Amino acid sequence: MTIASQARPVPSAAPSDALLEARGLNVYYGESHILRDVDLSVRPGQMVCLIGRNGVGKTTLLKTVVGLLRQRRGSVLLAGEDVGPLPPHRRARAGIGYVPQGREIIPQLTVKENLLLGLEALPGGMGRHRHIDPVVFELFPVLEKFLGRRGGDLSGGQQQQLAIARALLGRPRLLLLDEPTEGIQPSVVLDIERAVRRIIETTGISVLLVEQHLHFVRQADWYYAMQKGGVVASGPTGELSKEVIDRFLSV
Ligand SMILES: Nc1ncnc2c1ncn2[C@@H]1O[C@H](COP(=O)(O)OP(=O)(O)OP(=O)(O)O)[C@@H](O)[C@H]1O
Ligand SMILES: [Mg+2]
Repeated sequence: MTIASQARPVPSAAPSDALLEARGLNVYYGESHILRDVDLSVRPGQMVCLIGRNGVGKTTLLKTVVGLLRQRRGSVLLAGEDVGPLPPHRRARAGIGYVPQGREIIPQLTVKENLLLGLEALPGGMGRHRHIDPVVFELFPVLEKFLGRRGGDLSGGQQQQLAIARALLGRPRLLLLDEPTEGIQPSVVLDIERAVRRIIETTGISVLLVEQHLHFVRQADWYYAMQKGGVVASGPTGELSKEVIDRFLSV
């Protein structure tokens, strides 16, 4: 595996050794108060899973980290640096990779063209980078086979693999995955789960995953459980009790 997260200077005055730290986040849609005092952190090389039932604010939290939504109070720190002032494309170049819920690949573009879009997150963008790191084909061989096929003609599972590969090509330090196995057939769920594990083990990238499949959740080191826009439980996934699972996972 040759994809490595981009070496960037670590700020000298980092207040903690977390790669991602959300502190006291409060986010609104108009006047609807969605996120309430959310604290969450992801350490380097760690896989953290966010669980919670429909509508509790998981996607809202990821969108706030990515910069698609702005918090009214609180802060988002990447390696100790406040990314609050940065728009989404600058956060991408600072090392935040994002695979949105529903995948959002471009259906009219080919697999290759969709992958090239991922290079836009590299310093200098697509103008400077035209090379697709073959490591993404090691992880997801089907993408190499279908390079010339339109993204919209792939199956849901293949589109998900394409979306993950596209995010990886931006060489993130932190990869956010919003329900990557939602609506996907069970055999492909396992492929995606294995690929995510392999990405973490071989590149040191940190992952923040929103997931409903218990087997996949258990691959994470740490979990946070959300309810009504707040974090209400957290701990090592090895200590996930039946009660927590019944309360926060819908499958
Ligand atoms: N664009 C929007 N405008 C207004 N309210 C919204 C908007 N998007 C989401 N919401 C509301 O914010 C709350 C949190 O939504 P969010 O999508 O973050 O939940 P979620 O935990 O990701 O749910 P799911 O498991 O269904 O993906 C919900 O009550 C939702 O109805
Ligand atoms: Mg969601």
